[in-house]
Amino acid sequence: METLMAVISWMGAQASSFWNNITAVLIYLLLLALLLDYVMFRRKSSRLPPGPTPLPFFGNLLQLDFWRPVNTVQQLTKRYGMLFLAQAGWTNLVVLNGFKVMKEALGKKTEDFIERPSVPLLCLAGYTENCQGLVLAGCSTGWKEQRKFVLSTLKTFGMGKKTLEMMVSKEAEHLCSELKSQGGAPFIPHDLVNSAVGNITCTLILGSRFEYSDEKIHTLLHLTEDLLQTLTKNITQMVAARSWFSYIPGPHLKIREVYNDITAIFKEILNEHKKTRDPAFARDMTDAYLEEMEKAKGTPESSFNEQNVLKIIFELFVTGTTTTSSTILWGLLEMVLNPEVQKRVQEEIEKVHGRDKPLMMKDLPDLPYTNAVLYEIQRYADIVPIPLPYITHRDVEVGKFVIPKKYQLKPAEICYLAFFLHH
Ligand code: HEM
Repeated sequence: METLMAVISWMGAQASSFWNNITAVLIYLLLLALLLDYVMFRRKSSRLPPGPTPLPFFGNLLQLDFWRPVNTVQQLTKRYGMLFLAQAGWTNLVVLNGFKVMKEALGKKTEDFIERPSVPLLCLAGYTENCQGLVLAGCSTGWKEQRKFVLSTLKTFGMGKKTLEMMVSKEAEHLCSELKSQGGAPFIPHDLVNSAVGNITCTLILGSRFEYSDEKIHTLLHLTEDLLQTLTKNITQMVAARSWFSYIPGPHLKIREVYNDITAIFKEILNEHKKTRDPAFARDMTDAYLEEMEKAKGTPESSFNEQNVLKIIFELFVTGTTTTSSTILWGLLEMVLNPEVQKRVQEEIEKVHGRDKPLMMKDLPDLPYTNAVLYEIQRYADIVPIPLPYITHRDVEVGKFVIPKKYQLKPAEICYLAFFLHH
């Protein structure tokens, strides 16, 4: 019995010293984290714009009205003025408010605000240095050369010209004949409209289209929607901001698989281009890119490489297709919901243009009502309510303040507009 008591008492002493040690270690770690937070994330210059004091780890997130974030921005604007700083977790934000501040910052100092923040999540899809694609590439990772190439090549292959209009017109014929083949029965236009728009993007960048019965275009479009849904989930947004989140399990890890499935289809087309291309005559953007890759051989730091062309094809497909087809689907919905508008548009087109000729851009000035309806659909649909993220490229002076390098930009007016349109 005595021995048992002695063992229990020894165990009690060990447990108490164990808990004491654990508490000491936890306090030590907390102090270290607070110190790290203070050294790395507190603001230091006297010319910084004002802003609410951030808490360690959370920044100003606890002050945010999650249901009506616009309210928080309005309150902070009243308190700190048209230009203020805030912190979301450890991400530094600069909020710009009002025409004057926006014009000075974005209109006159555009070059200082063009940098993109790094998005660690993209490493799941193989985004690495010199292989950053187009949309989220940073200034030092091929931003300039890739944008310059894509813009000039897309113009060569028809963007903004009659050639593109002819492509659109041809695809519209295919779409209309599919719509007619439904024989007036109810149907869901989503897949057909998506395929038609996807085909225009593919013709522009890959030089060919898919038949509507081809499973590949449906797979591409469904995977793209799947990917966008995963990317816009809250957990994914959190992961996007911090590299170490990528190592925890969760739905965001699906990105790798979906991205690989999408690019497998594009890779097949790219390989076909490699086999059949004539270096003296580029048939489309992909041929032109392969030529740039040839020129960049022996320059390992060049951003013209095979992984990057797959990313650029993928990004153009996603940005070009989802935006345009959503706009058209919104248009169809509005026509169904507002039959009197639909009737007026139809009457105007038939009166000015007749029933059978395809409409072209040059006809728009003769169709003021139709033109106004198209603008209203675009305004109302508000397809991209939140702008892509930008950060300051270097320290930049706006009014009497200096916004430090790498602060993420939040143009408040765009957030207000998006919020009020959707609520
Ligand atoms: C109704 C159709 C469309 C809408 C509403 C739309 C809207 C937008 C918006 C709001 C941005 C962000 C601009 C920014 O924050 O800087 C953007 C960027 C972009 N869009 Fe579109 N877009 C449409 C069609 C297209 C098409 C057809 C393509 C290509 C074939 C395309 C390719 C891109 C690219 C590559 C970017 C990124 C540009 C950059 O990083 O500088 N978009 N689009």
